[in-house]
Formats: sequence, structure tokens, C-alpha cells
Amino acid sequence: MTTQFQLDDLQLTLTRYPANANANLQAWDAADEHLLKVIAAEPAAGSALIINDSFGALVCGLRQRQPMIQIHWVADAKTSHLGAQENLQVNRLSGDAINWLTDEALTDVAAELTLLKLPKNLNYFAEQLKALSQSLPAGSRILIGAKAKHINQALLALIAEHFGPASASLTWKKTRVITAIADGKARPLAPPVRWQTDEQLTLIGMANVFAATKLDIGARFMLQHLPQGEFKQVVDLGCGNGVLGLTAAQRYPNASVHFVDDAYQAVSSASLASLANSLATERLHFHWDDCLTNLPADVAADLVLCNPPFHQGEAITDHIAWQMFVDAKKRLQQGGMLQVVGNRHLGYHIKLKRLFGNCETVAGNSKFVILRATK
Ligand SMILES: C[S@@+](CC[C@H](N)C(=O)[O-])C[C@H]1O[C@@H](n2cnc3c(N)ncnc32)[C@H](O)[C@@H]1O
Repeated sequence: MTTQFQLDDLQLTLTRYPANANANLQAWDAADEHLLKVIAAEPAAGSALIINDSFGALVCGLRQRQPMIQIHWVADAKTSHLGAQENLQVNRLSGDAINWLTDEALTDVAAELTLLKLPKNLNYFAEQLKALSQSLPAGSRILIGAKAKHINQALLALIAEHFGPASASLTWKKTRVITAIADGKARPLAPPVRWQTDEQLTLIGMANVFAATKLDIGARFMLQHLPQGEFKQVVDLGCGNGVLGLTAAQRYPNASVHFVDDAYQAVSSASLASLANSLATERLHFHWDDCLTNLPADVAADLVLCNPPFHQGEAITDHIAWQMFVDAKKRLQQGGMLQVVGNRHLGYHIKLKRLFGNCETVAGNSKFVILRATK
């Protein structure tokens, strides 16, 4: 897959994050190119707000054209932040005057130019629009890049409902750019969804969280097979809504529990849920991180629980699961265990056996297996 981005005046080297793990996947798509093409035809702006820029194609493109532009850059994934920052460096583009932000900032950040990549999750998109309706004055424009097949009347109506009237450009490379104009009415944000599991655990799902409003079936299966023991340091790796770690905190009352996720909203949701279940003690810790890269050095886990993702954005990939297993092995103490739930067909047992030299099948049903590897 190419890493050489070339579009009219722009020439960049762009990789996904981490760069070496998924060399067969491209770091940008034609909707990024389309947005950069559209703004090239406009007068230069003094400031820009960039939202959902997966690995920094937009920030790098804009920066290459306008080295002095002030940029507010908003993304939920830590790996997007790390990828964009690495791509700026690789292309010798300055990171000065760039505010690296998460969605929390959307209600009060504004710029002359706003670019947004349409996310797959339309509830999340609607929340982003509502937040922008509070910060962007009447008449402000957002340019929204998306695949043409995702643009229809329902999407334009959703934009009109949450932000203001919208119209789509002609198709170029199977993508279109929607122009949405703020109508000046500030929409209140919806509070995150609050719901309960069968075991009466309260969970909280912000819009961009995996299984935001219902229990994942893999997680349900994992909960039925949590190991017994006196665990002291537990990690919920890829915590999502936090259901595995919160249950571990109840089940192992002497354990410190570390919740880790790439999605800022996942870590925030798990943290809010710990309060809602009166579990917020000093033994719970929340980390917005790419796998266990920045887990504090003094954490030596005796149990890592993991329901790994099998995609990154829209791309199906097992590199994150592999990195999670590698990181878990590094951070487990001798004798500690990694317990994984996964779809049967993903073949995680092969990876675990290769890495740990052992892998036990704890349980299985027609769809999932629960695997345990010991360091
Ligand atoms: C299948 S979901 C599991 C969520 C939750 N543990 C559950 O069982 O419902 C996988 C989680 O991994 C997170 N994730 C993806 N890439 C990650 C990475 N590089 N580092 C940490 N977490 C990641 C996703 O955001 C998602 O919340």
C-alpha cells in the first residue's frame, strides 16, 4: 500500500499508527483528498478546526500549504493523535500553533475554516454537530468529507436538524463534500446513555463508545467465566464502557484496576460508570492510551482482561489484538494471566500460544472462545 500522498500542489509521506504494524493499509482516503482539493480553491484562512482526521492527512496537507495557520485539531482516538503528530514530524512540518483536542473542546472552539470527516457512527456525528452548533455563529460553514455512498437525504436532514442546512457537491473519486451552514441555534448535548446490566451494574455510554448502550455478547460471555483468585493488579485492556474492569473491581475487592482505551470517550464513560456504581476509590485508574504504552512502570499485573478490537476505523485488522497481547505479556508479572474473549474464527489461540508458549481454552460456544495464557 502506498505511503506517498500526492495531490496537485501537495506531496506527503503518510502512514497509519503505529507505522510498522499495518503497512498494507493506507493512512488517508479519497474524502481527505477531496476536502483538500476543495479548500485549495478558496482564499487562505487564518485558523482552521479539523475534526476526525484519522492519521493527520488533513492537518499535514493544510500545514504544508499554510505553515503559519492556527489549527484546532479534534479526535477521540489516541492513535489518531499519535499518528497525526508522527506524520507532521516525518514530513518536517511544524506542530507549533496546533491545539490537540478531544470532543470536549467542540462546544467552545471556533475557526475560520472547519473541516470534518464523516465518522461511521452517526450518533457520534450528531453529537459533534450539536456541540459545534454551540460554538459556531450563524453563517459559519463546515465542510464534511465522505464517501458518496454514505451521503443521502437522511444524512442531510440529520445535519439540518443538529446544525443547519446542508448540500452536497458533485462526486469526485466516489466521494462528495457536504457544505453545512450554521443556523445559529445552539442545540443542547444529550447526556450519555445510562443503562444497567442484568447484574445491576450501571454503565454509561458516550456516543463514540463501543457497546455504548448494550452489553457486547463477547463481553457477556467473558463475564460468565472470570477467573477465581485473589488478584491484586487487574488491567481491563480496551475497556470500552468498562464492564469487564468494573465487574473485576466488584469481584476482586483488593485489586487495583486499570482501565485502558484508545477512545477518550471510552475512558471517560468507564470513569463515570465507576462513580455511578460507587466504585470510585483510589484503586481504580483510567488511562487514555495506545494499548499499554504508558501504563505506569510500577504496575505489574496479575490479570489482564481483554476483548480485543478486530478493526481500526473501517479497516479489518488484527494488529491491535497482537499489540495488546504483546503489551499484556510485557506488563504481566511471572505467573500472571491474560484472559481473552474473541470470535472463534479469529484464531487468537495461535497468537497466544506463539507468544506465551501456552494457551488454555476456558470456555467456548458456537461463536466465541475464552482463552487464557499464563506468563
Ligand atoms: C471489542 S471492544 C471491547 C470493549 C469492552 N472491553 C467490552 O468488552 O465491551 C475493543 C475496545 O478496544 C479499544 N481499542 C482499540 N484500539 C485500541 C488501542 N490501540 N489501545 C487501546 N484500546 C484500543 C476500542 O476503542 C474498544 O473500546
